[in-house]
Amino acid sequence: MSDLRLLGLSGSLRRESNNTALLRTLQDSMPADIELSVKTLHGIPLYDQDLENRGTPRAVVELRVEIAASDGLVICSPEYNCGMPGVLKNALDWASRPASASPMKGKPVLIVTSSPAFTGGVRAQAHLREVLTGMLARVIVWPQVVIAGVHGKVQNGRVADETTVQFLHEAVGGLAAEISLLRRSLA
Ligand code: FNR
Repeated sequence: MSDLRLLGLSGSLRRESNNTALLRTLQDSMPADIELSVKTLHGIPLYDQDLENRGTPRAVVELRVEIAASDGLVICSPEYNCGMPGVLKNALDWASRPASASPMKGKPVLIVTSSPAFTGGVRAQAHLREVLTGMLARVIVWPQVVIAGVHGKVQNGRVADETTVQFLHEAVGGLAAEISLLRRSLA
């Protein structure tokens, strides 16, 4: 069994998503002691408190269980209109419940944004940071991973640019270090 179980969430539902490709590339190349599962957010209904009060939808229960079972999250997201996509915000809203005891509370999270633009989704990065902090997640402050021109770096569903792969690995290393620190402080 791996020492570290990470859950990768993609902010894009697109079949040929560059952001999902970033996660798949990491998944394929994790060291033996780290396991990274990749999840897309298909099938998560729109947040509705009436729906929640009637009984949490199965897809949301699964999302919450997977988050709770992980040691940390890697969120890879595009930027839509200067923020994170609604699909991702919606899933995070579900995951943030119940407010005082959600699986997001205290969860170490690495944020990765990417875009075909040279700005690399930097505004979605800031948006995610604020929203995740609001739900008391433990956002990794360094490095902040912003990948510009991503369409030129992905081929056949995987990252083909070695510098980008290295950057992603360094970032996961930062997440792993934060989780180790947390474990030591709780021991
Ligand atoms: C975009 N895109 C975009 N890109 C960006 O850098 N800043 C932005 O504000 C936006 N806004 C935006 C809005 C909407 C509705 C769409 C559909 C797209 C472009 C976006 O970065 C691009 O489509 C990415 O390739 C999407 O990521 P995936 O699907 O490849 O992971």
